[in-house]
Amino acid sequence: MNLNTKNLSSGFSGGFIPFARPDIGKEEEEAALRVLRSGWLTTGAEAKAFEEEFARYVGASHALAVNSATAGLHLALEAAGVESGGRVITSPYTFAATAEVVRYLGAEPLFVDVEPGTFHIDPSGVEKALKACGTRGCAEGRVGALVPVHIAGQVCRMESLTAIARRWGIPVVEDAAHSFPSRTASGFAGTLGDMGVYSFYATKTITTGEGGMVVTNNEAAAKRISLMRLHGIDREIWNRYTERGASWKYAVVEAGFKYNMTDLAAAIGRVQLRRAGEFLAKRQAIAAKYRAAFADKDYIELPPDGEGHALHLFIIRLVESRLTLGRDEFIDRLAEKGVGTSVHFIPLHIHPYWQKRGGYKPEDFPHALDAYRRAISLPIYPAMTEEETQRVIEAVIAAAEAGYTGP
Ligand SMILES: Cc1ncc(COP(=O)(O)O)c(C=O)c1O
Repeated sequence: MNLNTKNLSSGFSGGFIPFARPDIGKEEEEAALRVLRSGWLTTGAEAKAFEEEFARYVGASHALAVNSATAGLHLALEAAGVESGGRVITSPYTFAATAEVVRYLGAEPLFVDVEPGTFHIDPSGVEKALKACGTRGCAEGRVGALVPVHIAGQVCRMESLTAIARRWGIPVVEDAAHSFPSRTASGFAGTLGDMGVYSFYATKTITTGEGGMVVTNNEAAAKRISLMRLHGIDREIWNRYTERGASWKYAVVEAGFKYNMTDLAAAIGRVQLRRAGEFLAKRQAIAAKYRAAFADKDYIELPPDGEGHALHLFIIRLVESRLTLGRDEFIDRLAEKGVGTSVHFIPLHIHPYWQKRGGYKPEDFPHALDAYRRAISLPIYPAMTEEETQRVIEAVIAAAEAGYTGP
């Protein structure tokens, strides 16, 4: 998050390098114009086509377009049967959305710490949490779902996680907001559990401005999500103004939500989907440059270099024992040199709402806290030039070497 749109070009040679910048070209502009001129702005043929194309791309039976990943996570957990008073296992090392949707349903997150060295939920911690509070419930309620979050586009240890969830009979909803198009030998991230939810927010690997997609091979879940994303109405009504006959009739069978994707967003998404390979190649080239430049820098811990990584984010971690300056000061130094950055993430358990709700102390999840204290997300996006990449590298090295304590 924290899209930095400050234009400070006057103060830096070469201009300010924002943390993120979408790559929107002529084709996206033409697609948006086509919709604007069509007379149909809301959910319609473009959204349908985007769903079909997305489902084919990731190899899922169903794809359901929604207006954000937050909406998609809410719908997926509702379809998974998460109940009021229940629990959902996830990691505190994530964005607000992952856990807030659990509260929408009247349930509570059951946080499990990340593995040291990764940003990902620890399968052994999940097993332990399930033993302490199984699906039949404990004092805190029944566990209704497991939500692994593929931070930065790196895929979680899904084989272990899905095996544990299967053993306990709990559905897995992947928070794949960062991970299109991350892939493993078993398939795309987002298709490895029971449901997967992608984000098309403005900084993501493909964007519709705001938007998301839920994928699943489970027909019943797809039907439920389709029903609930548009007011709990029992049939598709998007074409009711153009159909002939009794098309005005519909029945509300549930108290649903208003989470549908517009055709305007979908038309942009269809173009971005076609460009996903090109975008990924550009991200890979930037990541390769960062890795080569920082390989021998003992004050930087590089992110895990997993196969099939979507490279939504490039999160370095500072090695505190090698530096006299802390993470926040490091970020200030980069900003002074015209480099925008962000931090992914401020763990949820140290935010005021969750501290109050769960009574957490920062050290309750020591690995999440450690990752947060040292993390800096560097700019990585297809619209970044080679010159900008080089400037980021030079700014990182200059910031570190001014406060380097030596080996
Ligand atoms: C891990 C994670 N999950 C979910 C979301 C929510 O995505 P959206 O903004 O599309 O609702 C985000 C957004 O950045 C995220 O980082």
